[in-house]
Amino acid sequence: MEQDIRIDISRAKSSAVGKPHGISSAELQAIEPRILEAHAILQEERAQGKYGFYDLYKDTETLERVKASAARFLDNGIENVVVLGIGGSALGITALQTALGLPYHNMMSKAARKGKPRLFVMDNIDPVTFRTMMRICNPAKTLYNVISKSGGTAETMAQCMIIIEQLEKKLGADKIKDHLVITTSPRGEDAPKSLLHPVADAYGAETFDIPLNVGGRFSVFSPVGMFPAAMLGMDVDAMMAGCEAMDRRTSQGNLMENPAYLRAAIHYLMDTTKGKHMSVMMPYANGLKDVADWYCQLWAESLGKRFSLDGKEVFTGQTPIKALGATDQHSQVQLYREGPNDKIFNILELGRFDKILKIPDTLSEVTDLDYLRGKSMNKLMNAELRGTIDALKVSERPVIRVQLPRLNAHAIGQLLYMLEVETAMAGRLYNINAFDQLGVEEGKQIARKLMGGER
Ligand code: PA5
Repeated sequence: MEQDIRIDISRAKSSAVGKPHGISSAELQAIEPRILEAHAILQEERAQGKYGFYDLYKDTETLERVKASAARFLDNGIENVVVLGIGGSALGITALQTALGLPYHNMMSKAARKGKPRLFVMDNIDPVTFRTMMRICNPAKTLYNVISKSGGTAETMAQCMIIIEQLEKKLGADKIKDHLVITTSPRGEDAPKSLLHPVADAYGAETFDIPLNVGGRFSVFSPVGMFPAAMLGMDVDAMMAGCEAMDRRTSQGNLMENPAYLRAAIHYLMDTTKGKHMSVMMPYANGLKDVADWYCQLWAESLGKRFSLDGKEVFTGQTPIKALGATDQHSQVQLYREGPNDKIFNILELGRFDKILKIPDTLSEVTDLDYLRGKSMNKLMNAELRGTIDALKVSERPVIRVQLPRLNAHAIGQLLYMLEVETAMAGRLYNINAFDQLGVEEGKQIARKLMGGER
């Protein structure tokens, strides 16, 4: 029986860090009617099909197709999966692989990887990195998954063109379908034209749809994340069960019972009434490092908005920051404790690591190390975490603790789903559209024009 992830807000309360920096029970009570109102709107619009991310986990038909297709490619001797995509098309699978794959996966032998393919997520257009990947990955044993909802993103299309040419030269056009999967928006009169459709047609490549009502940064549980996840042997069913478990908790309006709404309310109040204009996501587990990166995109792109829903200029948004415990204790924590008190801290922690590593009884001549001898790295990590949150409390810095029972697919499903629902609720509280990204689109268009393109 899988356990729920737990949220502890006690260190973000005024009773812990003082009234100027913490939230009181009265402040939480005061925002409850707004939460209930926003909840009713979100649920109604969800039922109308406006926000597809909520229900991706229910699409068992797509998931079965994803799994069957992954099994087929793996049977055909695929040893490398190369994802070509950027932003929401890349950050999700990166977060999943860091969380659920073994560290240094790509550097291990095939046997040590238990036959699982290596993963290369190409989310940039750095020519040196891309060329190096092309040298490392033998096209005959590689599957390229081109992911772009719009099917027009210059970075991804440039990568796609380079890879198609390589495949044509090395394997021949008729073999491309065995090495290419396209994930893009569906075809249809109402759908925007994806430039990846003619590519799929030209080579007969397998194609997965990104539903039109699912934005890039909310798409990790669609084939965008789930197809490469299945290729990498992740337990996608357990991930979906994690989403379902979190949906049960977050589809009711009671603020104190709903971890996503509670986190949204606290972040919103911190930003708008306590001067906490930054939100630091700091996991104490390397496996969660890229979840922090994924969160940064979700929070920044969803909430950083110039106009409110009623057209007023508002310039909203709380700047997300990624950090890593204990590493950044020796880099950022000085600033976090003694610099401006303008941040809220999200500490991600594990109930237990999958491995225990004892610190051996060596160096007995160095008696100053007695305190470490015979303990474990696990215990030291816990002590470091405890030290940081206690020190932050002394400096009156608010902290929310998010506790995962352990690092597995179920817990990751819960965590990412919760952060998505939280972002949707925060959007309502700020009264902005959390689901568009006009600021990004404009930059994309300018770059296309500079390259001589038309739109
Ligand atoms: O969240 C978003 O919508 C963006 O970050 C997109 O994912 C990113 O711009 C890539 O777009 P596309 O999937 O259309 O190539």
